[in-house]
Formats: sequence, structure tokens, C-alpha cells
Amino acid sequence: MHVDPLEKKWITVSIFLVVFFIAVLGFYAIGANVNPPSNVEPIDSVRLHLTEEFAEDNLGVRKEDDGSVTVTMVAARYGFYPQRIEVPANTPVTFRIASADVLHGVHGPFTNMSTMVVPGYVSQVKTLFPKPGEYPLFCNEYCGLGHDHMWARLIVTPQS
Ligand code: CUA
Repeated sequence: MHVDPLEKKWITVSIFLVVFFIAVLGFYAIGANVNPPSNVEPIDSVRLHLTEEFAEDNLGVRKEDDGSVTVTMVAARYGFYPQRIEVPANTPVTFRIASADVLHGVHGPFTNMSTMVVPGYVSQVKTLFPKPGEYPLFCNEYCGLGHDHMWARLIVTPQS
């Protein structure tokens, strides 16, 4: 089979790129431990308010015995509940978020807080905020006409 020399060059470049991309993926997945959240926890979105964890009165910030903080939130068109979250800096924070209706997302610019909130599942993200300050949390999955107005306020307080 005849392969043109120029074609041969491009085949080599393509193979190199594929190997390079697999190496980059491997480096971040194994070396830097960057992985999608592995928590798979189904929940009935329609009955969220009837569950103990996601009932309206139980949403918000909770201090755990080990010093960490758990934030329970509901994402629903078009807001996050509660809308204001206050957590201490340099403290492990576990977000547990469920959608009451459609697909939403939570993204905190300048933090590593970012996740999809898929209806029917609990999105769990473990993170830590080193810098005190006020951060917005935006919905970053188009969820309807009010998508642009769907956000929450995250306040990171200096550690006492
Ligand atoms: Cu919720 Cu976009």
C-alpha cells in the first residue's frame, strides 16, 4: 500500500497527539488525583422536602464532630436554598446538593467548587476555602429563563 510521505508525517503527528493526550489525562487522574466526584447517591427529587436531610428546616451549614462543616443545599428554579452560606476558612467543607426539578450546576469562581446538580442524585463535593471573603456561587447549567438570576452568596469567614 502506498502512503504519501506527507500523509505519513500527519499520521505520525496524529498518533503522537493521541498518546500525548492519554498521558496528560493519566498524569492528572493518577498523579494529581483530579477526578470527577465519585459519590453516586440516588434521591427522589419530587419528595426532597419529605426527606430528613433536605427538608427546608434542615438546610444550611452544620458543624460536624470532627471539626469539618457540611453544607446542605437545594437547587431549584431559580435559586439556591439557603441563598446565603457562611463557612470558616481552612476548614474541610462537604457540600451536599440536590435538585428539586431540572439539571442545575454550582460554580464558585476563583474556588475549586464546581459541580453539576443532576435531578435524582445527591451531588457531593468536598473542598476547602483558604481565603476569607465573599464569593458568588452561580448556576452554570442552563435551566430555564431565570437561569441568569440563579446564584447564592458564599461567605468565608476567617478561622477563629
Ligand atoms: Cu439553575 Cu441554571
